[in-house]
This record gives sequence, C-alpha cells and structure tokens, in this order.
Amino acid sequence: MNWNDDSESFQISINRTVYTCAARYIKDISQYRSYTTSVPPPATGTNGQRRYNVGVFGAGRIASSVHINNILRDRRFNLKWVVEDNPVQAQIVQNNYFLQDTPFFTSKEREMLLSDKNLDAVFVFTSTPTHADFICSSLNSGKNVMTEKPTGENSTDIKLCYETAEKKGKVLLTGFQRRFDPVFKEMREIAMNGSLGTLQLLKVTTRDNPKPSYEFLKSADRTGCNIISDLAVHDIDMTVWLTMCVRPVSIYTVTHIHDATLQDIGEPDVVTLTIKFENGLIATIDVVREAVYGYDIRTELFGTLGMAQSDNPRRTTAIVDKVDGATMQPLFYSFPQRFEKAFATEISHFYDCLNGDTKPLITKEECLLVQEIVNKGIESYKTGQVVPF
Ligand SMILES: NC(=O)c1ccc[n+]([C@@H]2O[C@H](COP(=O)([O-])OP(=O)(O)OC[C@H]3O[C@@H](n4cnc5c(N)ncnc54)[C@H](O)[C@@H]3O)[C@@H](O)[C@H]2O)c1
Repeated sequence: MNWNDDSESFQISINRTVYTCAARYIKDISQYRSYTTSVPPPATGTNGQRRYNVGVFGAGRIASSVHINNILRDRRFNLKWVVEDNPVQAQIVQNNYFLQDTPFFTSKEREMLLSDKNLDAVFVFTSTPTHADFICSSLNSGKNVMTEKPTGENSTDIKLCYETAEKKGKVLLTGFQRRFDPVFKEMREIAMNGSLGTLQLLKVTTRDNPKPSYEFLKSADRTGCNIISDLAVHDIDMTVWLTMCVRPVSIYTVTHIHDATLQDIGEPDVVTLTIKFENGLIATIDVVREAVYGYDIRTELFGTLGMAQSDNPRRTTAIVDKVDGATMQPLFYSFPQRFEKAFATEISHFYDCLNGDTKPLITKEECLLVQEIVNKGIESYKTGQVVPF
C-alpha cells in the first residue's frame, strides 16, 4: 500500500490492479499508517543507519526466555557469539534457537572476544555479582554495553561502571524494563504533568510468579535480603522514576519468611517498604516471591486532585458472563509474558542509543539513587529501625 504525497488518499494493489482510495474513511491517517508500518523508522542519529555486531554474556533464565530471542528478531543486530559457562545451558540455548552457526564460548575466552575491532556492543545477562566485571572490561575494550538490572551489586560497582562508560565515551544502558512498558510510561506522564495535583501517596505492588529456584534465591546476590535487592529493586526504580528522583528522607522495612526452605536459607519471601520523601510524598512498596494466580504488578498515584491506577493486563480481554457471575482470563504467567513488549522496546532503545538517536532512558543518577534506597532498605531489615537518608 502506498500513500500519495497529499496524505489524503492511498493506492492499494489487488491482483495487480491498482486502486486509488480516498482517506476520508479513515479517521486518523497517522494512526492508521503507524499500524501498517512493520519496520522501524529510519535512524536519524549521528552514527547513520547501520547494523551492529554484538555478543552476549550469559544465556540463563532471562537471556534464554527473553533477550536472545529479541536480539535475533531485531535484524539491526548481528549476534556474533554467546558466552555461557554452563555447558548444559549453552547446548539447550544453541539447540532451541538453531544457533549452530553462532559460536558459543566460556568466559575464559572473554579477552580474545573483546579484542575484536569489529564488535560494537555486548549484552550482559550473567548473574548480578558478575555484572561490574563484565561491564567494565567490555567498556574498557571500547564496547557499548546493555546490562540486565541491577548495573552492579553495590553502589561502588554501579558508580565505577558509569564512570568507565563516561571516560570511554560509550553507551551503558541498564535494563529496568518497566520504563518501557506502555502503562508505566503513562503513569510517568501523569506524575509529571501535575494533573493529580500535589502527590501524597504512591503504591507499588509486585507479586512474582513462579518463585525462582532455591538455587537462584541462594546465590542471587550477597546482600542478605535479595527480595529487596533482586526483586523490589524494580519497584524502587519505579518509585525513583515516578517521583522524578526526589530524595527520600527515611525508609522502614518489614519482612517475613513463610517458606520452610527459605527459612533455612534466611531469605524473606514477603516484604513491605515504606519510604517518605522530602516533598511529603509517602511511597509504599509490597513484594511477594510467589503469587499462585499469576504475575501481579500494579501501581497507584494519589494526589490532591485525583488518583491514577495501573492494573494488570490479562492473557486476553474475554469476559464470560453467566447467571452466577463473570469469569475472565488469568493474569500473565510471569515476567517474559507480562513485559514481552517492554523487553523488545528496551533492546530497540539500545539500538537507538548506539545509533546516536537518543540517550539511555535510565541514568547513572537514577541507578545510584535506586541502589541507595536498596541499601537503606536492607539496613532497616537488619536493624528493625526506621533508617534516615
Ligand atoms: N528484568 C527482569 O525482570 C529480570 C528478571 C530475571 C533476572 N533478571 C536479571 O538478569 C540477570 C540474570 O538472571 P537470570 O535469572 O537469568 O539468572 P540465571 O542464573 O538463570 O542466568 C545467569 C547465567 O549466566 C551464566 N553465568 C554466570 N556467571 C558467568 C560467567 N562468569 N561467565 C559466563 N556465564 C556466566 C550462568 O551459567 C547462567 O546461565 C540477573 O542480574 C538478574 O537480576 C532480570
């Protein structure tokens, strides 16, 4: 289908006959046009439009269920190699994605891989404690980096990663994918445009599903409370984003461990965080490791002029009404399904950053504030006290 220059009509070819159609039957031409566009718009960035050679570090849970698929589907990236130290996992991923022509390496080969002058960027999807090492060595080799959240395990590592990116003049994008989700973007616009008046309360809820393996929960990080540093970190990032980085004044953490195995490991499976900000706003975050009914993520903003809520999308929008009530589809199963679009947009955003079209949506200052809140939240968990900032 081709639009004519005046945008008032378009030509469509059916069985080699070209028909010219008036556009008056279409209410909003630009909207219709965007639905018919199946390729990304041409890049306008300072680096011109080109394909980037990339490598992937880590082919575990999130890489194999989300990111490798998105990188392969985005033809603007050329996947040169994957590094995965677990040979069984490497084999599964190679088979599942028909990657027999893509070499898999272990981290022992990292230096050789990063010395490739034709490699533009890397993705870091390994376990959190390894992030800073992979990020800094890649940046120091002149490669751009997109990393899964969090950038590093602690504030020192996060600072070092961003300072290295600045020094080397390279892109560093941290993957807090909720930033790219349409409903969270809308909440951010509402928070910014002042239409709710003075904001007084912010509520963020995460009920994860399924519970990650005990193996993962044992080794996710070394903070001693990974429900905060590994999971609630998403809600803390949303809090930082929706409050436009206002500084907190205090935080109070309450946790409990219901699961018997987690009691042995010493990792809570339920947490609430109450954060007070210097402008008077109070944020409450509640996070649970396992919600049997699906992946449940909600937010609410309350202000002097109104309230905005973001609810869960469902697998389909069908509702069945009967005499004794109505039923609807369950929530999405987990993060790969719920944030499918956000994860793809995030990868596309990284391309735009490489291409010079835009700057990373997630900044160094935001990542450092997120980590500061994580740290104080864990301090409150350990001391049982309200912790000031
Ligand atoms: N954005 C989200 O919603 C989300 C969800 C899950 C995980 N994550 C993040 O993604 C990262 C990975 O989490 P995951 O759940 O996929 O964990 P995972 O343990 O399943 O995967 C990590 C993979 O990295 C490999 N690995 C670890 N160290 C390595 C090394 N030195 N060299 C090569 N390979 C190495 C492991 O063998 C494993 O396959 C974490 O930082 C986590 O916080 C983010």
